[in-house]
Amino acid sequence: MIAPESSSKSITGRETTATGIRLIREAQPPRWKLYALSIICMHGVAGFTGALAYSTRLIAKLALRNVSFDIKAGEKVAIIGRSGSGKSTLIDLVPRFHDPTGGTIRIGGYNASDISNESMRAATALISQDVFLFDSTILENIRDGNAGASDEDVERAARRAALTETLGNMPAGLQTVVGPNGSSLSGGQKQRIGIARALVKDADICVFDEATSALDVETEKQVLENVTKELDHKTVLFVTHRPATLDYVDRILLLDEGRLVSIGTKKELETGSEQYRALLNIAMKES
Ligand SMILES: Nc1ncnc2c1ncn2[C@@H]1O[C@H](COP(=O)(O)OP(=O)(O)OP(=O)(O)O)[C@@H](O)[C@H]1O
Ligand SMILES: [Mg+2]
Repeated sequence: MIAPESSSKSITGRETTATGIRLIREAQPPRWKLYALSIICMHGVAGFTGALAYSTRLIAKLALRNVSFDIKAGEKVAIIGRSGSGKSTLIDLVPRFHDPTGGTIRIGGYNASDISNESMRAATALISQDVFLFDSTILENIRDGNAGASDEDVERAARRAALTETLGNMPAGLQTVVGPNGSSLSGGQKQRIGIARALVKDADICVFDEATSALDVETEKQVLENVTKELDHKTVLFVTHRPATLDYVDRILLLDEGRLVSIGTKKELETGSEQYRALLNIAMKES
């Protein structure tokens, strides 16, 4: 058993530039195998301190710079910012799809590099905009989140993901076969199956990356209400361009060009962040 480190090392852009320009690579094999589940519960904080560089042959640029923040266990946080501001890069650090080239990611006080990729992925549900579905039934596609889920668990998750009406309109309901990569379904139906899949996984950290982008406003509201209730004790990150999501979170994190420019409650950002107000104005016009 290792003790969690007591403080995060902060990094500057200069340090990161000097050391951090290299291609993304998978994490080194873990030195200890720890189970993220108990770590998060024990310490109650999922903290992130990170910088990440993407590199091409001609240019190398930092996708995230000096992004440092703490999220309490059970907190709901929205990550917003213009396209290309680094939102997906940031949340992909959580299941360790890539590691920061400088800085550390800390989960429950532990350095993520001390936790196996396997454990981190087991503790994390990542729901992206494009959901991959197998050419099987809706039931099996949802159960893909948790092989041990009972039919009742799957039905419950489907209800929470606002699939009840959709399933009622299908002759075989949950037994409907979706076709190769869900070709017989709409984008919004696929997204809701992806959300149900994440709900049955019952992970400690849930990350939604534009996961409701294809839903109409009413359905999105229903899904967000159900999901935040269902995941009441879980740590949830929502990457979103949709202003409606901001009503369901405790805090909002605003990124711009890979930097964290504001973090706070909706009220705090409304009064204190000009960039937030400008972004919201654009989002309102688009929605
Ligand atoms: N695999 C990659 N290789 C090189 N550059 C990348 C790679 N992935 C992302 N980037 C760059 O990193 C920056 C951040 O990208 P990221 O996908 O995190 O943005 P985002 O905020 O999620 O945008 P969007 O709202 O469009 O999804 C962008 O400039 C992007 O071009
Ligand atoms: Mg993105």
